[in-house]
Amino acid sequence: MPTVLITGANRGLGLEFARQYGADGWRVHACCRNPEEASELGTIAAARPDAVSVHRMEVTEAASVSTVAQNLSDQPIDILISNAGILGGRGWKLGQTDYGNWEETLMVNVLGATHVLESFVDHVTSSDLKKMATISSKLGSIELARATSNLAYRTSKAAVNMAVKCVADALADRGVVCVAVSPGWVQTDMGGANADLAPEESVGNMRTLFETLTPGHTGQFLNHDGTELPW
Ligand SMILES: NC(=O)c1ccc[n+]([C@@H]2O[C@H](COP(=O)([O-])OP(=O)(O)OC[C@H]3O[C@@H](n4cnc5c(N)ncnc54)[C@H](OP(=O)(O)O)[C@@H]3O)[C@@H](O)[C@H]2O)c1
Repeated sequence: MPTVLITGANRGLGLEFARQYGADGWRVHACCRNPEEASELGTIAAARPDAVSVHRMEVTEAASVSTVAQNLSDQPIDILISNAGILGGRGWKLGQTDYGNWEETLMVNVLGATHVLESFVDHVTSSDLKKMATISSKLGSIELARATSNLAYRTSKAAVNMAVKCVADALADRGVVCVAVSPGWVQTDMGGANADLAPEESVGNMRTLFETLTPGHTGQFLNHDGTELPW
């Protein structure tokens, strides 16, 4: 039975990953900040208590991440999905940057997401599939940007893309495939109701993409449909 670990698994894309991998017979380690409030995730875990487990994880707290890593130290993880993220402030105007909010956004989307990758290197390296996916965003692409909004979010996703590239290169000789993936614009709390894609479709596409990843893909920035995105 292959194993997946997902951060931010209590709602949005993370919850949908847990739902789909759980339904497909995978062992699922679903991480979230407040398991006692994660009722939908609890229902998924209750349906397959032998295979789906819920772990408390706040990605900005080093001890929280390392506790989960230690608790799972003997368990290979085939696919690690560093998904937890925040939008930060929606708007942005030159001269009105909210530096506190920017710092918080970087803490979650860059340092937290990267700490998750680093903490589970041994688990992924010891697995059969050896894949790491960080959920990034097209808004982090400098080439695609018409950047009059979302400064905190855009810079956080551009930075985490570079972190993914660094981790990918550091792990290439161990056969680990480490990529940044844009899920598209998706109907979640973050994406809003007017977004293009339902979570089912975006996550289904990303799962198909993960299946096709080979060592040749490591260090790439990929769209959910498998096409390569410009940095
Ligand atoms: N939806 C889109 O259109 C879209 C587009 C591009 C990229 N993305 C990316 O996709 C990923 C998932 O987004 P989503 O749309 O599912 O967003 P969402 O519905 O807002 O869910 C965000 C998830 O991240 C968790 N989270 C936030 N801060 C955390 C922290 N410090 N520690 C642990 N967990 C934390 C949240 O947990 P709580 O419930 O505890 O807050 C929640 O589970 C994010 O990285 C996002 O940037 C989304």
